[in-house]
Amino acid sequence: MLGRLNHVAIAVPNLGAAVLLYRKSLEAIVTAPQRLPEHGVTVVFVELPNTKIELLEPLGEDSPIAAFLLKNPSGGMHHICYEVENIIKSRDHLIASGARILGDGEPKIGAHGKPVLFLHPKDFFGTLIELEQA
Ligand code: CO
Repeated sequence: MLGRLNHVAIAVPNLGAAVLLYRKSLEAIVTAPQRLPEHGVTVVFVELPNTKIELLEPLGEDSPIAAFLLKNPSGGMHHICYEVENIIKSRDHLIASGARILGDGEPKIGAHGKPVLFLHPKDFFGTLIELEQA
């Protein structure tokens, strides 16, 4: 089911400062900020030769990232995103295997304009997993 690693996401308290650090200190290529109100985040992507790093900060009142940053005030690794060919098939297989899908279980459109789903971290060794239909 799993395809390529699409990205690793890091939650940050200040996206502007994080972008500067990645650009100046790490000399990385970073995309322009993208607001995703449906996901409660603003994101940028650090473009690497073999994958991407997503930097995200909370957007709006009930952002899921706000609670994460309360527990991890300086930021931290938030999720990893794997590509799948068919997100509905993958979801149904995962549900049949006993895994829990976050939210209403329906894919939302993610930062790349493609459908995404999140899997419950307690079902995957404490790791929040995002699936993106490639
Ligand atoms: Co992501």
